Amino acid sequence: MKRTITTLVLAGALSSAAVLGTAYSGLVNVGADDPHFPAVHAFLAMARDRSIAVRARDIDVPDLQDETLIRTGAGNYNAMCIGCHLAPGVEKTELSQALYPSPPNLATGGIGGDPAAAFWTIKHGIKATGMPAWGKSMGDEYIWGIVAFLDQLPKLDPQQYNALVASSSGHQHGGGESAMHNHEGQHGNHAPEREGHPALGGSEAHHPAPTNTAPKTHVHRDGKEHVHKN
Ligand code: HEC
Repeated sequence: MKRTITTLVLAGALSSAAVLGTAYSGLVNVGADDPHFPAVHAFLAMARDRSIAVRARDIDVPDLQDETLIRTGAGNYNAMCIGCHLAPGVEKTELSQALYPSPPNLATGGIGGDPAAAFWTIKHGIKATGMPAWGKSMGDEYIWGIVAFLDQLPKLDPQQYNALVASSSGHQHGGGESAMHNHEGQHGNHAPEREGHPALGGSEAHHPAPTNTAPKTHVHRDGKEHVHKN
């Protein structure tokens, strides 16, 4: 018995040392362009799903058919989420394609039938994935608005989506809102008057965020500065 315990303890210590050694040697590639091994991916997905399921199980879901709730959610979703999660008629963006794990396309997936899990995820975010904890700036009622809207989203075509967003009060969640740099439709279908970047072949034109008045600049890999007017 004593020998078995000693063997088990030694085996445990050795494998912990092996894990530490591998990490310290730099063998693990943290690059977002290098996918996890399937077993690691499955382990992380299981840990995420269980973590959310356990934390979401006691959350009470309000009436998601409430039209005011859905409308509020439409404006907030359009302002804060489509750069990563897309929308009807919105093609993949630089962000949505470059993140790993990739953000699911909520225009087709919606909340997958689990409003409590969606609420928890939106409020608390998911560590080391790019999914932010929106509860830091948004009250619960606004988060429920987004959940109610997401419940409808897979049924909407681009016209219905735009109409719902237009009928909402835009980006408003009771304070803390800031203008987000939306990458909506930036590749291929922007209005000609917004194509102000001949040096970049016009392919980097961005829609300015509606309420943003200060010019913004970002620098591309080739060193060219790219100013966003209004
Ligand atoms: C910067 C990119 C980014 C933004 C902006 C973002 N998300 Fe996410 N979101 C992610 C990523 C990445 C995941 C997937 C994480 C994973 O696979 O573990 C995710 C996951 C989710 C999920 C879980 C989906 C599922 O099927 O498991 C929901 C719901 C969600 N996001 C809602 C939102 C909402 C609502 C907003 C806006 C208020 C938002 N997200 C903004 C990156 C983003």
